[in-house]
Amino acid sequence: MLLHKQEKVIVLDFGGQYSHLVARRSRELKVFCEMLPFSTSIEELKARGAKGIIFSGGPSSIYDHSAPACDPGIYNLGIPILGICYGMQLMARQLGGAVSRAVHREFGRKELQVFERDRLFAGLEQVEQCWMSHGDLVEAPPPAFKVTAMTGEAPVAAMSHPNLDLYAVQFHPEVVQTPKGQEILKKFLYDICGCQGLWTMASFLEETVSEVRRQVGDKKVLCGLSGGVDSSVAAVLVQRAVGDHLTCVFVDHGLLRKGEAEQVLKIFPDKFKINLIGVDARERFLSRLAGVSDPERKRKIIGEEFIRVFEEEADKLGQVDYLVQGTLYPDVVESGTATAAVIKSHHNVGGLPEDMRLKLIEPLCWLYKDEVRALGEELGMPEEVLWRQPFPGPGLGVRILGEVTAAKVAILQEADAIFTEEIRKAGLYRQIWQFFAVLPDLKSVGVMGDKRTYAYTVALRAVHSQDAMTADWVRLPYEVLEAVSSRIVSEIKDINRVVYDITTKPPSTIEWE
Ligand code: XMP
Repeated sequence: MLLHKQEKVIVLDFGGQYSHLVARRSRELKVFCEMLPFSTSIEELKARGAKGIIFSGGPSSIYDHSAPACDPGIYNLGIPILGICYGMQLMARQLGGAVSRAVHREFGRKELQVFERDRLFAGLEQVEQCWMSHGDLVEAPPPAFKVTAMTGEAPVAAMSHPNLDLYAVQFHPEVVQTPKGQEILKKFLYDICGCQGLWTMASFLEETVSEVRRQVGDKKVLCGLSGGVDSSVAAVLVQRAVGDHLTCVFVDHGLLRKGEAEQVLKIFPDKFKINLIGVDARERFLSRLAGVSDPERKRKIIGEEFIRVFEEEADKLGQVDYLVQGTLYPDVVESGTATAAVIKSHHNVGGLPEDMRLKLIEPLCWLYKDEVRALGEELGMPEEVLWRQPFPGPGLGVRILGEVTAAKVAILQEADAIFTEEIRKAGLYRQIWQFFAVLPDLKSVGVMGDKRTYAYTVALRAVHSQDAMTADWVRLPYEVLEAVSSRIVSEIKDINRVVYDITTKPPSTIEWE
């Protein structure tokens, strides 16, 4: 059984920056949406059983030598199609309309003159706002198509075929700058494609649990649980499906935040009845890191040691058949290996031995990050797990510059905990992508109680980001910075100076190493 067979639409991806957004908007409307490459064959599209197809936008001109195009047989499938931006230009060209090359781009918020209220535009006003971002434009629609809207620059800003359920818009209904965009998508999904909105987290959960249960049977499943959102939700879901057949391994490498290990080791067995093996590998990691200060060497040592510990635990358990991974949908789409089912065969995952012959269970492989959080809520998981910030695998190892020692870890954990407490107190926790303390390898002179001090400087970092590719520093209120600074220097005797990092990414990175 494939997931969500009963109701789905497909976004055919022509490489547009908003392609994922179309899929997300559709899911917000409770219609499951899958993204496939534009080159997907007609047979494959038929086999997917979609109720509708949406052509995404894309950066190409249809006049480019290698402009992406789908098989024109798609128009004969009898499945409703909505073309967006490049998708509209392609539809126009493939069906015999006229598309002119860009002289200049039309970009930004525009007035849309609606003069034909077809099924897509039912209920719209005569003039609506829309968001345009295109070069080429459709000059004349294909034969039998009607022009349904225009803008000052685009004579055909929307078009449709009265009988064939083919619709196209030059603007982007998926962005918030098109205020009626979601309404338009809803019309397409519900009124034109006949969807009913069956995609809910409750239905996804039920379906996935029974799918995992069916496939695993009485075999053994292993999961590396870091306490991060993805691995935590994946583990709790698989536990619900197969109970005691699942064993999770949590490796404490001693580079976690204050209280983190205790929290993970308590919540998962207590609240979710998960078999959890906690491995205290703190000594082991610290001794391997002794004397090492090069950032890349540190990362490498931590990564290798992690896998070694994990392998040893897997060996102790005996023959394991499945490994749970928290892979998300964007990774699946980007790697070009659209996953057809929850479970697929895999060897040698992340350095694990070949002879384990593990099969992967990737229960989140259909979901976006915010959907994983919603699924976690459906599973009754607490906020402190679901809203955890991204935390690097090497942990505090890349936030302690220079050699990592137990003493430095303890200092940084305290400073980080104070920063977190104050951010929470100020009600800013959910608004910030990531914030943390860093311990540079730096001591300076200070004065305290009339005495000279010579102690560490701690740096605070707080950033806003969408996807960690770029980031801006957070303009934290001075009062919050003041409270954090004064608490850190008075409560941690090894710190006498606090600085705030005000660099963006690029040119900096979010982490310091
Ligand atoms: P940078 O420092 O490259 O970080 O701007 C971007 C994002 O990735 C996180 N990060 C990691 N996450 N393993 C991870 O799972 C790692 O080795 C790692 N290094 C950086 C970082 O916290 C930020 O969110």
